[in-house]
Amino acid sequence: MASLRVLGRTFHRAAGSFARPAAAAFSSSAQFKVCINGGAGGIGQPLTMLMAMNETVKEVSVQDVTMAAVPPSGVAADLGHLEFPSKVVGYATDPSVPAVEQLEACLTGCNLVLIPAGMPRKPGMTRDDLFNVNAGIAKGVVEACAKFCPDAVVGLIVNPVNSIVPAMAELYKKKGLDPLKIVGVTTLDIVRANKFVAEITGKSPKDIEVPVIGGHAGVTIMPVFSQDPISATISADKIPALDKRTQDGGTEVVEAKAGKGSATLSMAYSGARFGNKVLAGLAGTPTDECAYVASSVTELPYFSSKVTFGKTGVEKIHDIGTLNSYEQGRLKEAMDQLKTEIDKGLDYAKSNC
Ligand code: NAD
Ligand code: LMR
Repeated sequence: MASLRVLGRTFHRAAGSFARPAAAAFSSSAQFKVCINGGAGGIGQPLTMLMAMNETVKEVSVQDVTMAAVPPSGVAADLGHLEFPSKVVGYATDPSVPAVEQLEACLTGCNLVLIPAGMPRKPGMTRDDLFNVNAGIAKGVVEACAKFCPDAVVGLIVNPVNSIVPAMAELYKKKGLDPLKIVGVTTLDIVRANKFVAEITGKSPKDIEVPVIGGHAGVTIMPVFSQDPISATISADKIPALDKRTQDGGTEVVEAKAGKGSATLSMAYSGARFGNKVLAGLAGTPTDECAYVASSVTELPYFSSKVTFGKTGVEKIHDIGTLNSYEQGRLKEAMDQLKTEIDKGLDYAKSNC
């Protein structure tokens, strides 16, 4: 297990840690099946690659639609040549046919499903603008997960996370499944906060771990700079700008890509950081990551705070901890917006699930 922890930590931080594992380790440690839905997309391809490089992964399903820019079987053929133990298999589905009728082989036996399937933002759009089209895509895949891999951890990357996670967790509840299998991936906000703090303080990002709580859109993204020993040294007058830059990190990339998509590479890195932590937990080494889940740490039914992932997925949801007065004000602001976005997901579940 110690080696797993080492893999997880160095994987996040150092490219040099991608050295291929010793041959003897191949058959003994590879045990997990992972699926990436939307696996031929901007996030999907690099995320599939990073998950295929986890030596505990024995099989990766790459699923996308038949009209995807690259056929999923092509992504699989390409990644199938990496010198890692994982077998990579592509699945192309017809979006006019329910996903549940097409994903049995793709999802059966999966321990972890990561879903970046869906439309990205263009400049001028909010994440919420994506809800109508992306909720339907997520619902198709999540219904299939409920049928073919109900015990898998399902990491929803597709936006708007704040509304789609409640909608999909309610779908699981209605089917008598555990809503905590549905997890919103907010890791990119932590990654950004760590990097921006490193830039300001001159410290190494690997020594920084800023908890980011709340949700994943605008003011709901709430970095808690007072809780990391390095970011806590930043003077109070610099915090509002740093906070705002973290909130607007996604928009910064959307504008820089000028209509050609949103964050893909940093999201793939973050999705793999999340996925590798979940797999380490499933393998018996508990790991912590902030994630957006059904929660009772505030009066809101869904909230992102530190989660411990263990042998069955979400094992413990941690309290927010101590906030300074600036953060207490921000928490109220975050919760006000988050409530509206959660309600949108709950309304969707009432009429569509
Ligand atoms: P993309 O357009 O490059 O890729 C999306 C992929 O989904 C495409 O290959 C498309 O064919 C596929 N797809 C569409 N319908 C599908 C279906 N029914 N089944 C399977 N696949 C389907 O977009 P992207 O840049 O990879 O972004 C994907 C999503 O991730 C967007 O909604 C984006 O907003 C979101 N995102 C979230 C975060 C986060 O922090 N949670 C970060 C970045 C992007
Ligand atoms: C991000 O934070 O980069 C993503 O949510 C994509 C977006 O639309 O900003």
